[in-house]
Amino acid sequence: MKCHSDPALAPKELVERYGDKSGFYEKVGNIRAIISIRSPLSAALEDAKEVFIYLSVAAFFVFGGIYALICYFFGKISKRDSLLTAKTAELEELNKTLEERVASEIEKRVQKEELLIQQSKMASMGEMIGAIAHQWKQPLNALSIIASDVKYAYEYNELDADYIREFSAKSDEQIRYMAKTIDDFKNFFKPDKVKTVFDPVEAVNGALALLSSQLKNNNIELSTLLPPAKTLSVYGNKNELAQVILNIANNAKDALVANVNHDRYISVLLSQEGDKIRISIEDNGGGINDELKERIFEPYMTTKEHGTGIGLYMSRVIVEEGFGGKLYVKDGAFGAVFVVELERFSEN
Ligand SMILES: Nc1ncnc2c1ncn2[C@@H]1O[C@H](COP(=O)(O)OP(=O)(O)O)[C@@H](O)[C@H]1O
Ligand SMILES: [Mg+2]
Repeated sequence: MKCHSDPALAPKELVERYGDKSGFYEKVGNIRAIISIRSPLSAALEDAKEVFIYLSVAAFFVFGGIYALICYFFGKISKRDSLLTAKTAELEELNKTLEERVASEIEKRVQKEELLIQQSKMASMGEMIGAIAHQWKQPLNALSIIASDVKYAYEYNELDADYIREFSAKSDEQIRYMAKTIDDFKNFFKPDKVKTVFDPVEAVNGALALLSSQLKNNNIELSTLLPPAKTLSVYGNKNELAQVILNIANNAKDALVANVNHDRYISVLLSQEGDKIRISIEDNGGGINDELKERIFEPYMTTKEHGTGIGLYMSRVIVEEGFGGKLYVKDGAFGAVFVVELERFSEN
């Protein structure tokens, strides 16, 4: 490289472009320089080759890497896709069989429930027949006395018109009472599922009337505190509510007979608070321990030798499903308190 080159040595194009005067002849203030650079082409080519090779290798790796990554991800995505399709198919299949399984489980449950309802009716019927036998004992005794008296009256020549009239009235009364017991029983088991608006007091009285003889025979004092008739109403099946009251009162009777020797009592209280009507049935039969309290509403749960364990289960089903209410037990002072909670019926 030469500074201020001699034009004779400068490259021809530079001389053509800038003239052939050397910078030494310029006036003061003028600046002119001709710089020529020479570099061997082969070296430059060598350099470029090296760079080219490096760049190619680098590019190969970079693009190769990117290509490999793309392939990898596409592979993964398509694998995931096929996995997803398989899983979806599996899920659909499961869904289909699940529907079938649920349907068959429901079917089984309904059958079981129907069987339980049937058994519960039979159990109540057994209890009721016992109740009727008790209810009939007294009028049957009375009838037998009346009938045997006719024989003596005949023998003693007392069979006149007055006697016959009195005989007929007395026996009629007993027979009517017996017939009424059977009617109550028949009504109670009429398989009608009809829901109506009715006075809960009537259902309570109906159930307690069926038990009255058994309570008397077992020296159980029954006290009731009920509002006047026709002041409250609920919506549902009247016989079913009576069945619930009968189940609960019957259990109270059983507890008293099993655990208490004297001063046995059952008290039934019907109260209203806002939209709620509560029927509480309390006894002094010793109550239920906490562990058992959770379980007595399960089907077939009984502590009695000849119990069925269906009464409370069925009662709860009736109260919850038939009346949209609640049935629960709590501790009383000397025994259990069962509470039937119902919605009060109102027109609007
Ligand atoms: N008033 C009560 N006092 C004490 N225990 C009770 C009372 N009511 C129910 N139980 C308990 O709840 C159980 C279940 O009652 P229930 O379902 O009517 O069946 P069951 O009367 O056939 O035993 C009874 O066996 C008894 O242990
Ligand atoms: Mg019972």
